[in-house]
Amino acid sequence: MEKLDWKNLPFGYIKTDFNIRCLYKDGKWGKPEVSSSEYIDIHIAATALHYGQEAFEGLKAYMGKDGRIRVFRWEENAKRMISSANGVKMAPVPVELFREAMLKVIELNKKFVPPYGSGATLYIRPLLYGSGAEVGVNPAKEYTFLMFVTPVGPYFKGGIKPVNMLICRDFDRAAPLGTGTFKVGGNYAASLRAIISAREGGYANIIFLDAREKKYIDECGPANFFAIKDNTYITPKSESILNSITNMSLIQIAESLGMKTERRQVPVEELSSFAEAGACGTAAVISPIAKIFDPSNNKVYEYCKDGEPGKESMKLYNKLVAIQCGDEEDSFGWVTIVD
Ligand code: PLP
Ligand code: COI
Repeated sequence: MEKLDWKNLPFGYIKTDFNIRCLYKDGKWGKPEVSSSEYIDIHIAATALHYGQEAFEGLKAYMGKDGRIRVFRWEENAKRMISSANGVKMAPVPVELFREAMLKVIELNKKFVPPYGSGATLYIRPLLYGSGAEVGVNPAKEYTFLMFVTPVGPYFKGGIKPVNMLICRDFDRAAPLGTGTFKVGGNYAASLRAIISAREGGYANIIFLDAREKKYIDECGPANFFAIKDNTYITPKSESILNSITNMSLIQIAESLGMKTERRQVPVEELSSFAEAGACGTAAVISPIAKIFDPSNNKVYEYCKDGEPGKESMKLYNKLVAIQCGDEEDSFGWVTIVD
């Protein structure tokens, strides 16, 4: 293995030694198998390729100071993958199979878990897709579940450095009764035009609004949105966003720190009243927002004027990361020590 520069890893793909694959055929799941290939052989008429019948997950393994490897709330990812599978009519992966694959893939790639304190983590990517052939629009009869890992650095450049976001009014990521609550590839394909237009304008990412009225904040690219004012953690409730496990956890952490929490519709105009704003997710962890630009009225909403993250966001971030890497006692029961 070539030496990895742990402190400067991008959020990208780095080859590791092994991945796990498992096939669903004749109505049942087979045994998970270990592969050292980075490639899959796929039927030319697989439903994943033509009709986007696929779902994925994202979770992380963290190296503690004690040299032990921890994963954060993996059961929530397993459950969400079942919900996503049902959302696009795939055979769901049983929680126990998810667990078995996860433990194996971490164990086999232990040397790729970034060291404690490096700011990097081992990203675990479970994937489920329709591998059976169909030409009509039908669910496949065969599925493939695979899991690979790759060491990653922060999703947003600079890690906890505040970033700028653009409000999206030209594109929608998901429709209210569509698949926005599922972690399916089509949502990410649908988000690309908006993400690229934001990046071309010099923004770190895009803020999607509710597709029906374009009045309320939905989410921030591949992360949920949160804001803070009057000792209250506020995050959007919407029928078209992914229910973030990080966000769910931050709500509980905020409450444990004596903050109030609200999960409700967040009108765009309310942006001017927030003291702090941020994006949260497994990949993003917490990415504080410095500025949000709304092109419809050329309004700029500014947080972190001095370029530093807000105090409350930092408190939440420090507590979350301390639990994830085992620096602080896991009083919520979120962490599983896997090695
Ligand atoms: N929203 C979207 C669209 C995402 O892709 C993700 C990433 O998984 C999130 C939110 C954050 O979810 P989580 O905290 O469960 O990773
Ligand atoms: C995650 O936060 O785990 C994600 O899946 C985001 C990813 C789409 C980059």
